Amino acid sequence: MQYLPIFTKLDNKPVLVVGGGEVALRKCRAFLKARADVTLVAPWFCEELKEHAHNDEVTLIDAYFEETHLDGKILIIAATDNDEVNNTVFELANARNVFVNVVDDQPKCTFIFPSIVDRNPITIAISSAGTAPVLARRLREKLEALIPQHIGPLANLVGGFRHKVKQRFKHFADRRQFWEGVFDSSVVSKVQTGDTHGAEQQLEKMLDAKVEPEGEVYVVGAGPGDPELLTLKALQLMQQADVVVYDYLVSDEIMELVRRDADLICVGKRLGDHSVAQEDTNQMLVDLAQQGKKVCRIKGGDPFIYGRGGEEVQVLAANNVNYQIVPGITAAAGCSAYAGIPLTHRDHAQAIQFVTGHCKKGGQELNWQSLAQKNQTLAIYMGVIKSPHIQAELLKHGREATTPVAIIENGTRKNQRVVTGQLDQLAQLIEQHQIISPALLIIGEVASLHDQLHWFGEKAQISSFAQPLTDVA
Ligand SMILES: C[S@@+](CC[C@H](N)C(=O)[O-])C[C@H]1O[C@@H](n2cnc3c(N)ncnc32)[C@H](O)[C@@H]1O
Repeated sequence: MQYLPIFTKLDNKPVLVVGGGEVALRKCRAFLKARADVTLVAPWFCEELKEHAHNDEVTLIDAYFEETHLDGKILIIAATDNDEVNNTVFELANARNVFVNVVDDQPKCTFIFPSIVDRNPITIAISSAGTAPVLARRLREKLEALIPQHIGPLANLVGGFRHKVKQRFKHFADRRQFWEGVFDSSVVSKVQTGDTHGAEQQLEKMLDAKVEPEGEVYVVGAGPGDPELLTLKALQLMQQADVVVYDYLVSDEIMELVRRDADLICVGKRLGDHSVAQEDTNQMLVDLAQQGKKVCRIKGGDPFIYGRGGEEVQVLAANNVNYQIVPGITAAAGCSAYAGIPLTHRDHAQAIQFVTGHCKKGGQELNWQSLAQKNQTLAIYMGVIKSPHIQAELLKHGREATTPVAIIENGTRKNQRVVTGQLDQLAQLIEQHQIISPALLIIGEVASLHDQLHWFGEKAQISSFAQPLTDVA
């Protein structure tokens, strides 16, 4: 990190701006907003600065800059159009270990002014450390659009209640839970509509109520890996949870987005490595919720597609635990899109079947007759290990040997790989390219469109294609 973001209180603190023109004026305005004690030094001042001086808001020193002007100042801005003067200011201030900013000269800045989203008292500062100010400005514009105006008054209101809440709830966790409840309540909409009095009354009421911590489980689909494929709801709940129960399929980048101080519990789940048995996971969710915790049960893809979300929710329901279910982009949708393979296409596939290559022990065998039908796409989850069996059964039941196939490993992630070929090469392609989990198999004519439509792999230069196989039987 080149600059540590800190917020300083400048009330009546002595700061110096060297310069008297428009740029100096801009910096002076920023300091005045923070109620700093501003002195400007220059042989000439613009009218607005003179007016500020006339109103006793700033002190003007009508002179050329000298080292003594730095005496007692805690922040210095050099805002002249003379590089030599700016440089001298920088050198002298730096020698005194005083923070200095030479406007538009990032190497000569020991502090910088970030772009600001101002929802007083909420302030968001964005900086690119001087490398890309336009990008920082664009980000600011996005945040300006996203963050509602009433956030400021809301923060003021709750700020007034902090002391009472601290007295009412001795433990940090209880206080946090109380505030989460407030921000999920009609207090927010009341502030939004300007009914501050109503919001205050509501807050008092909530404070008086005997609050029993009420646990809840959010069964959240995290999508196939690219964090930008998360839904807004998933992100919100991930940031609200006390505990996050996750498995290996959730990418590291997504785990980076969960609330920093949430407890993290990994329940494993790789083929053949069920670190925690499903029954234990079910019970863990119930226990945590019954302790009053907000639990985010986060899963790769969609929780209800080969995610065992159904089983977990059944147990929650049977134990009267509150829950929410947030769908996620399933691997078939995410991986196929990032590999440029439309799952249906009027010329190639009128139907799609989601298939698991890993059936429950003693479970039913797949309906190969139906799976081998033409003009449909098969999206096969967990099919890598069983690929020789899948290939053999489909061929045996009449699917053409030349049917295009695609194997998508780590779909939508930075290390996505796509290998294409034809059905009678499937198992060999997997072996030859040493495909690892997670990988999705797509079987059907649409797989051939990858060559025309792939974009993610091409951009990231990570796609790899099957070499022609000459030794395939
Ligand atoms: C237990 S299933 C979970 C599926 C998940 N609930 C979903 O909706 O995508 C795991 C299988 O999903 C597929 N899968 C999940 N994420 C994937 C990814 N990023 N790339 C390729 N395949 C993926 C693989 O076939 C993997 O073995």
